[in-house]
Amino acid sequence: MIKKISLMLSIGFFITACQAEPCNCPQQPVTPPPAEAPNTAAAEATPTAEAPAPAQKVSQTPIAVGEAEISLPKPLPVKATLTQCLQDRRSIRSYTDQMISLEQLSALLWSGNGINREDGKRTAPSARNLQSVSLFVAFEKATYRYDHVAHKLIRVAEGDLRPVKAAPVELIVTSSFADNEVIQGIDSGVVSQNIALYCAAEGLATVIRMMRGDQSELQKSLGIEPTNRPLFNMAVGYEAK
Ligand SMILES: Cc1cc2nc3c(=O)[nH]c(=O)nc-3n(C[C@H](O)[C@H](O)[C@H](O)COP(=O)(O)O)c2cc1C
Repeated sequence: MIKKISLMLSIGFFITACQAEPCNCPQQPVTPPPAEAPNTAAAEATPTAEAPAPAQKVSQTPIAVGEAEISLPKPLPVKATLTQCLQDRRSIRSYTDQMISLEQLSALLWSGNGINREDGKRTAPSARNLQSVSLFVAFEKATYRYDHVAHKLIRVAEGDLRPVKAAPVELIVTSSFADNEVIQGIDSGVVSQNIALYCAAEGLATVIRMMRGDQSELQKSLGIEPTNRPLFNMAVGYEAK
């Protein structure tokens, strides 16, 4: 009997100790399993958990629209809480001419569909991890493809491909998921919500608009296959009040 009580007390102590502190209990592995393919670009692009100190001034670098490539700085963490972002998200359809900064564009694209893990997976889930969604950034002067691996923009076209010319930036969202419109919609929809929540966090305005009709000219201009479908665009800028 004494042996039984003593055993029960020992088990109780063990459980309490594990709950109080991060412990080295055998059932809780301390070391994460090794990543399959370390991705240093992803580590570079992933924001650190800590937000910048309140006094720190965040740079507002202009975007060098027209350059063949635009390197994106490491995205900064947002200060808003998720609850605040959800509270503030809404569609906005009137924009000023004010351009967003390079820092905002960097964090916007990373939030939308950047790499967030060493194995190359992304901030948005995708069916069968096929990562079917591509993001294009259309400005008045040129359009770029977001290279999520190198976290940079690569110019694909000169001139104005913005589907709606109301905001200084229009994201064009495509999906290459073969022959399955439902999955195309879901893969791209989760990316759009990431973008919308980032905009809410930063006080930026956005609205999602479906791309209708024949998109073959746009596909040619973007340099994508006919199977890679432009599904919708998202204006990004500042609200005109
Ligand atoms: C798939 C989808 C397509 C949309 N297409 C358009 C559109 O073509 N034009 C537009 O002004 N808004 C469009 N919207 C925005 C909706 O009108 C908007 O989300 C809705 O009115 C609710 O308003 P809220 O986003 O402010 O909550 C679309 C939204 C979704 C999810």
